[in-house]
Amino acid sequence: MIKNLKKNHFLLASLLVLIASAPISAQINLYTHRHYDSDKILFEKFTKETGIKINVIKGSADQLIQRMISEGKNSPADILLTVDAGRLHRAKEAGVLQSINSKTINKNVPSEMRDPDGFWYGLTVRARVIVYAKDRINSNELSTYEDLATAKWKGKIAIRSSGNIYNQSLMASLIEANGSRRALRWAIGVRKNMARAPRGNDRDQVRAVAAGLADIAVVNTYYLGILANSKEKKDRDVFNKVSVFFPNQNNRGTHINISGAGIAKYSKNKSDAIKFIEFLTSPEAQETFGKVNYEYPLFIENNKSDLLKSWGTFKADKQNLSILGIRNSEAVKLFDRADWK
Ligand SMILES: [Fe+2]
Repeated sequence: MIKNLKKNHFLLASLLVLIASAPISAQINLYTHRHYDSDKILFEKFTKETGIKINVIKGSADQLIQRMISEGKNSPADILLTVDAGRLHRAKEAGVLQSINSKTINKNVPSEMRDPDGFWYGLTVRARVIVYAKDRINSNELSTYEDLATAKWKGKIAIRSSGNIYNQSLMASLIEANGSRRALRWAIGVRKNMARAPRGNDRDQVRAVAAGLADIAVVNTYYLGILANSKEKKDRDVFNKVSVFFPNQNNRGTHINISGAGIAKYSKNKSDAIKFIEFLTSPEAQETFGKVNYEYPLFIENNKSDLLKSWGTFKADKQNLSILGIRNSEAVKLFDRADWK
């Protein structure tokens, strides 16, 4: 009898150990294009709170989407996380995501920042702003994206290639707002106004302005945060020579884009994956994205980053961001016709 009791105790104890260790073994496989410290901090926090481990698989968005297509039903992916609504739309069209419906996520993500069918959801916001040389340009001279195509900016604009999705998404928003013909004319006008043939990334455009090669540039806001907080003095010097201007404040608002995520079509850990997106869209995680990676929260007005606050508040274009994906191929075609390299 005593022996049996001991045996039962032993069994019970083993069972408890198993239960206690069970959440640690839970894991989600995250295919991600992002490589920021903010994400690492948040992943660790999520694991600490839930016991669910995040196994990170990095790659470019196009590589990861391709990988999900070729892995098919055997794909270990639970979540695809990437930047730009255009790419998320591409993933949806490629059939590698699935639709979900979470009350928490729907509450945390404004409707224009998620796919109308629930295939992807925004996590952070970035604005594509005009940056200008403080010593040469007065902010009164700036107004809209459309104005960048007028002759007054001849030889003064630095902007990256049209192969870049951020520019394709900006172009998609211009097609949506103004129609294809005007958008094409805009692209031709901006191409003629370029200070140099497109090259380099967003940060290089800001560097060109700081170096006096151009007077204005079009860039995503978080890159300015990265320059401002760089360990390299020369990056901080670049940042100190420029100011930020939010275009189109008197009409539709500044073009914004998101970084976002969707649940993989063949996810084997769907409920944990949903929990993870719920966590990333929660107000506390939103604050970390802002403070560590200088991205705007999904509700832009809740921004807590001092740097972003220093640029003032702004009105964002409210069109549903799925448009950026829907109009992507037309944007690429029009850029080609405009001979924007
Ligand atoms: Fe980026």
